[in-house]
Amino acid sequence: MTTFYRLSSDSEKRIKKSRRHIRLFQNIRKLEKEGRFSEEKKAIQHGSTTVYAHSVNVARLSSFLADHLPLKVHQQSLVRGALLHDYFLYDWHHKDECPSRWHGFTHPGCAAENAERDFRLNDVEKDIIRHHMFPLTLSPPKTKEGWIVCIADKICAVQETAGPMVGKAQKSGAAAGKWAGKSASRLWHAAKRAAARHTAKD
Ligand SMILES: [Fe+2]
Ligand SMILES: [Fe+2]
Repeated sequence: MTTFYRLSSDSEKRIKKSRRHIRLFQNIRKLEKEGRFSEEKKAIQHGSTTVYAHSVNVARLSSFLADHLPLKVHQQSLVRGALLHDYFLYDWHHKDECPSRWHGFTHPGCAAENAERDFRLNDVEKDIIRHHMFPLTLSPPKTKEGWIVCIADKICAVQETAGPMVGKAQKSGAAAGKWAGKSASRLWHAAKRAAARHTAKD
């Protein structure tokens, strides 16, 4: 007689999470080995986040969203397309490296050309790369996977840009608090000394 064990929802979640991590890690290793994915480490995307770290963030979030949405998604193409969505391979902050003044509009095309040159892409992966900048570029994604990466890209961009600002604000808030604390303690001691002098005079 065969006994069937039902997994708890926590165990299912944990299994899904480790599957996502393994898929992501394997794809990163493959893209680094077969193409120029490691070169993305040299260029900054948002704040202090490199294009490499941004692409990994987008792939991780896309995969997480796909696991939690009631949609049937091709996970392998989703992760590969997300990892390659910004495969333009230059630092857009440096004018001499950037091939166009309109990086925001032109880089999906540039990334797609580079990716198609270095890897064999399927239609879903091409769609993800070419249309991830919608609505800035007017042409929307044509696949579910393209839409997921398009949304994940915006969320990561905000997080990576605002993250350091929040950190800075927290630091300056802490510094201001320290300064106020020190000033209050100085005032307190000065008042105590003045009161002591006053009592001594009496
Ligand atoms: Fe992009
Ligand atoms: Fe991006």
